[in-house]
Amino acid sequence: MNGERKIYRIGVIAGDGIGPEVVEATIPCVDAVADRFDFEMRWTHYDWGSQRYRRDGAMMPADGLDQLAGEEALLLGAVGAPDIPDHVTLWGLLIPIRRGFHQYVNLRPVRLLPGVPSPLLDPGDLNLMIVRENVEGEYSEVGGRYNRGRPEEAAVQQSVFTRQGISRVAAFAARLAQGRRGLVTSATKSNGIIHTMPFWDEVVAETVFGHRGVQLESLLIDALAARLILDPGRFDVIVASNLFGDILSDLAAALAGSIGVAPSANLNPEGDHPSMFEPVHGSAPDIAGQGSANPVGQLWAAAMMLDHLGETEAAKTLTEAFETTLAAGVRTRDLGGRASTLDFASEVERRCREEQRTDEQPASDGMVQPQDQR
Ligand code: NAI
Ligand code: MG
Repeated sequence: MNGERKIYRIGVIAGDGIGPEVVEATIPCVDAVADRFDFEMRWTHYDWGSQRYRRDGAMMPADGLDQLAGEEALLLGAVGAPDIPDHVTLWGLLIPIRRGFHQYVNLRPVRLLPGVPSPLLDPGDLNLMIVRENVEGEYSEVGGRYNRGRPEEAAVQQSVFTRQGISRVAAFAARLAQGRRGLVTSATKSNGIIHTMPFWDEVVAETVFGHRGVQLESLLIDALAARLILDPGRFDVIVASNLFGDILSDLAAALAGSIGVAPSANLNPEGDHPSMFEPVHGSAPDIAGQGSANPVGQLWAAAMMLDHLGETEAAKTLTEAFETTLAAGVRTRDLGGRASTLDFASEVERRCREEQRTDEQPASDGMVQPQDQR
């Protein structure tokens, strides 16, 4: 009954390089699960990115955020091009969206997928969530560059940490841990960075205390990085500042195999603004245009989006569909296979439409409560 179907308005920024390729592959799969669970996606495409920058001198229009504000969620491919400095593409599009829409949590699930070998000999039961602070911290606009070109030239960049900014991200991590194994690991460097990091430690401890069943440990970022490689299975939820979280999440994604399979969500947990879902990888200019990109990171990001919208069953079905596709040996080139982006996606789409749920592969995470049984 068409009239009663829930309709979700989704803004799509496919972006540059392989971005449009993996987005094009993903949309029919999401439509397929939507069909199956009787809701509808209304996609609006925004052709923002490097091409627009070359044409108009800006990655997005001046009123870009206003245009996106009416969407319920955003699906992003990737932005970046070899002929444009990366800070232009990043600060011209992604950062204004993350900050303007108060997407203060960057959430990255990391776990092993079938057919995606870890570079570690024994990755153990790698299944963790990284909660990265996404709008303040080390990535600030405060600072300057002085005496350019002179011997006394200097650059100053200030970190900005706020009580509210730390506590809301710590609270998110604690709630997430309550639905998992109950361990929050906080990344710190309060031995060396003596103002902001002790403040981080204090506010994280205050916030996590008071969440029932959650244990907090604080690890120095350097030791944490080493532990992540030596014993990744011991971690559950890691909460980190913007810079530390950025580095840890790429490290953890590498432990899980290919960068092509890792997803990320930029969340405004209160739902006052749209949240944005994207793969971890960039525009991969070295393989763009070949139709060989792995769409799993984008598919997984779309599954997180469905979960965020409350379509938990649909999210689970989509996740199972790409997992069983991988398990069946359909793989793109980065995983040593020969499937094209669209070959892989059409197999996922077929599985999404199938009436019979394939239950031999365990259900995987929704973003809020992963229940990986492997
Ligand atoms: P990248 O992630 O685009 O590529 C790194 C390597 O991984 C490349 O060899 C690429 O071929 C491979 N790769 C990435 N995604 C893949 C996929 N889905 N399937 C198969 N192989 C894949 O990172 P890189 O090369 O450092 O950056 C390229 C551009 O992307 C730069 O302009 C950068 O600024 C931008 N970028 C954008 C991001 C975003 O939109 N959120 C994130 C990271 C980088
Ligand atoms: Mg990064």
